[in-house]
Amino acid sequence: MHLPESRRVAPELLWLDEVTSTNDVLRELVVSGGDQVLDRMVAATASQTAGRGRLGRSWIAPPGKTLAVSALVREFNALPPGWLPLITGSAVCRGIRDVAPRASVGVKWPNDVLIDSRRSGGKVSGILCEKLPDGSVIVGIGLNVLLTEDELPTDQATSILLHADPVGDPDGLMDAVLASILRQLFGLLDEVSRGNVESIEGVRAIVTEDSATLGTEVRAMLPAGTDVQGEAVRLANDGALVIRTSDGGEVVVAAGDIEHLR
Ligand code: BTN
Repeated sequence: MHLPESRRVAPELLWLDEVTSTNDVLRELVVSGGDQVLDRMVAATASQTAGRGRLGRSWIAPPGKTLAVSALVREFNALPPGWLPLITGSAVCRGIRDVAPRASVGVKWPNDVLIDSRRSGGKVSGILCEKLPDGSVIVGIGLNVLLTEDELPTDQATSILLHADPVGDPDGLMDAVLASILRQLFGLLDEVSRGNVESIEGVRAIVTEDSATLGTEVRAMLPAGTDVQGEAVRLANDGALVIRTSDGGEVVVAAGDIEHLR
């Protein structure tokens, strides 16, 4: 695919016609190529055959209509690692807003990007960050770009096409959204790398602002199989979600699935 805008943002962009999982391909490149694989190298495809999701799930993406993107982040030291998926969520939100300014886009903690989250709630993107043995992280983003209603993989999914202004050139939309997301992601990572109090607080504020979860009534399904219900009130220092329960207590949720109740 011709991706002029994206290649300007990410000169180290490897486009693959078809691939099992972009996260796996990038990991193999890093393992075999070591330091020669540059920070912010990006592997991307519109046809991923064995995409992986969080918590061992698969990520189903009809070929040709979706983007699977993996970016290598060599250093992320100025914030706890739990912030990287949250920052990626903000970058995806902001990238989508650039191409679909009328869409209401927000992050469902920790890794889902939703359009119209407070109403019918469609998932447009999922994020899977995976740490490599050398300490670097692969940031994986799955994005529903050109799917029509009939092509959505589940009834809880949506696509950018369904929320963007009429699109003349489908490849142009793919390129524009990929370029915007990478630009936003790299910009936020640059801010974190500055490492001073203002830049870190600025990034935290952006993540908080883009959250569709904070301020809402939620049910958290924890990995142990238990539930916590209450208001999502803030993000903890490590990026965990703090839920205030009806008895006034607070529960800190580090991992799990969140359901927005209203
Ligand atoms: C989720 O919603 O559970 C996360 C889905 C993450 C999918 C992306 S697509 C690019 C990258 N490669 C993968 O195999 N998974 C991630």
